[in-house]
Amino acid sequence: AAQLPPTYTIRPLKKSDYAIGFLDCLRVLTVVGDVTETEFNERYEFLSGQGKGGYYLLVIEDGGRIVGTGALIVERKFIHHLGLVGHIEDIAVAKDQQGKKLGLKLIQALDFIAEKVGCYKTILDCSEANEGFYVKCGFKRAGLEMAHYY
Ligand code: ACO
Repeated sequence: AAQLPPTYTIRPLKKSDYAIGFLDCLRVLTVVGDVTETEFNERYEFLSGQGKGGYYLLVIEDGGRIVGTGALIVERKFIHHLGLVGHIEDIAVAKDQQGKKLGLKLIQALDFIAEKVGCYKTILDCSEANEGFYVKCGFKRAGLEMAHYY
C-alpha cells in the first residue's frame, strides 16, 4: 500500500471539515456552488452514520486543511444473492498536492472498505484523461457509461 507522507492523515469526513476547505478541495473536480454551513450539515447528517446509509466519505488532512477527498457508496442488490457493489465517487486532490500519491491512497482506502464490507466488485466512472490513474490503482476498463441529464 502507498505510504502517506508523515504529516498527512486519512480519516472519515467530519462536520468541522466545512471550515477547513472540504468544499474547496472538491472544486478541483467540478462546480460546487455556494453551499452554506447549514446546507452542508444537513447533507452530512443525511449521509452519515458513516456507513449506515452505505456512504463512506474520506478526507486527507494536512496542516489543518483538507487536501484530498473521496467517497464509497455501497449499493445493496437482490441479484448475486443479495450482492453488494461499491461505487467510487468524487475523488479530488488539491491542485498543489497532486502527484504525491494521495489519490492512490484514497482509492486504496475506499477499496479496502469495499472489500471488507463484502462488495463483490467496485466500479467508477472517469474521463479518458484519468484512465491511467485508475489503471495504476488496479482498475480496468469495463463497459460504457451513459447519462441522461435533466
Ligand atoms: N493519467 C495517468 N496517470 C496518472 C494520472 C493521469 N491523469 N494521474 C495520476 N497518475 C499516476 C501518477 O503518475 C502515479 O503513477 P506512479 O505510481 O507511476 O508514480 C499514480 O497515477 C498515482 O498518482 P497519485 O499521485 O496518487 O495521483 P493524485 O494524488 O494526483 O490524484 C487525481 C489523481 C485524483 C486524478 C487528481 O489528479 C485530481 O484530483 N484530479 C482532478 C479531479 C479529478 O479528475 N478527479 C477524478 C474524477 S473521477 C472519479 O471521481 C470517480
